[in-house]
Amino acid sequence: MVVQVFTAVTGAPWESALVGALDRSDHGVTVVRRCVDVSELLAAAATGTGQAALLSAELRRLDGDAVARLTAAGVAVVGLVEPGDDRATERLRQLGVLHVLPADAETEVIAQALREAVAGASGALHDVADPRAALPALGVPPLAADRPVGRGRLIAVWGPTGAPGRTTVAVGLADEAARLGVSSLLVDADVYGGVVAQVLGLLDDSPGLAGAARQASTGALDPEALVRLAWTVRPQLRVLTGPARADRWPELRPRAVTTVLEEARRLAELTVVDCAFNLEDDEELSFDTAAPRRNGATLAVLEAADTVLCVSGADPVALQRSVRALDDLREVLPGVEPVLVVNQLRRGPVPGDPRREIAAAMERFSGREVAFFLPSDRRATDAALAAGRTLAEVAPGCALRAELRTMAASLAEVPEPASDRRGLRKIRRAG
Ligand SMILES: Nc1ncnc2c1ncn2[C@@H]1O[C@H](COP(=O)(O)OP(=O)(O)OP(=O)(O)O)[C@@H](O)[C@H]1O
Ligand SMILES: [Mg+2]
Repeated sequence: MVVQVFTAVTGAPWESALVGALDRSDHGVTVVRRCVDVSELLAAAATGTGQAALLSAELRRLDGDAVARLTAAGVAVVGLVEPGDDRATERLRQLGVLHVLPADAETEVIAQALREAVAGASGALHDVADPRAALPALGVPPLAADRPVGRGRLIAVWGPTGAPGRTTVAVGLADEAARLGVSSLLVDADVYGGVVAQVLGLLDDSPGLAGAARQASTGALDPEALVRLAWTVRPQLRVLTGPARADRWPELRPRAVTTVLEEARRLAELTVVDCAFNLEDDEELSFDTAAPRRNGATLAVLEAADTVLCVSGADPVALQRSVRALDDLREVLPGVEPVLVVNQLRRGPVPGDPRREIAAAMERFSGREVAFFLPSDRRATDAALAAGRTLAEVAPGCALRAELRTMAASLAEVPEPASDRRGLRKIRRAG
């Protein structure tokens, strides 16, 4: 099959020579349209008359959305950069262009890249060395030697509607991990209105995640930019605030959020993301219009995460919601194996021993074990909210904080100091 190609490399001095060579060559590609800009390229892609686009990094208005729309239209993308321009290569990769070549590559090599891109082959034919390897030192605490830069762990904190405590768990987890010496980045990705800034007493007028997503979609995001966009609460704890108003969700485009999280892995050993509850993806139906998808950001986070926590409340209504939410998750993202956290555990709403009863019910109705139980402690959480501080700051000895710390140590795979464990046992006996 001859691959039909759109080009959009206007302005480059080598454009006409390249197009001529591709057309003349017998490499299984033919140029069906030479587009002058991104709009024309997108319009051409929508006609379904081509399978690949060859574009240059300099193309004006090229962003992650445009690449996503080309891909959604079934058009594979190959990028060309000026030879040796590593920055342009990195930028194209951030925008989602996997196949990137220097513009002086042989016609045969470019044609092969186009064919491979169409065949869905992963990875570029010509790659610059992994840019992550060249990361400059960032004024962040050194990462553990056995966890190379770029491999930071990503934990999504998700759960059903009904305020089971996702934000409380996300904040507690990031804070406790940081206190255990793990450099942590807390990201508020709640597309129904982020509150992490308020919970931590930070000004919420910082560009935060939306700013990072904006930079990601223009290919300008790197860990230094991420550091500038995040609050440094303590040297080991940074916070990327969320969209303070619920109507600002369109700023969190899924592709851009994925790129932000990739950069976050280069910045911090542990990234904890506070997610919204909703997984509905009905907007998919109108995907060919490239309509923004409100829950797309949540799905992108859950898909990218190494660990997805499902935070459930501990009363019958909350547990029922969790069982349904777990079913939804299985349907939407069958590859994700969530870790179940039951929060606000207390005597009262569930007869008998609540821990035993809830564990048995969740096992029976969702087929999952409860990995962590977190006690209800309204006095401690209220004190934290009132002060705009974390539990470790306002109620360091409380049982909820102790369990969050144990959970953080377990998820970050770092030892919990023995002295803390002894203190914890005392707290548990007292509680
Ligand atoms: N273990 C707990 N004990 C007592 N109160 C708790 C506990 N966990 C959370 N809370 C309180 O429950 C309320 C809801 O918690 P949180 O905001 O963390 O839930 P959420 O799931 O993030 O909700 P939302 O849907 O608004 O994002 C808050 O007032 C919080 O302080
Ligand atoms: Mg929340």
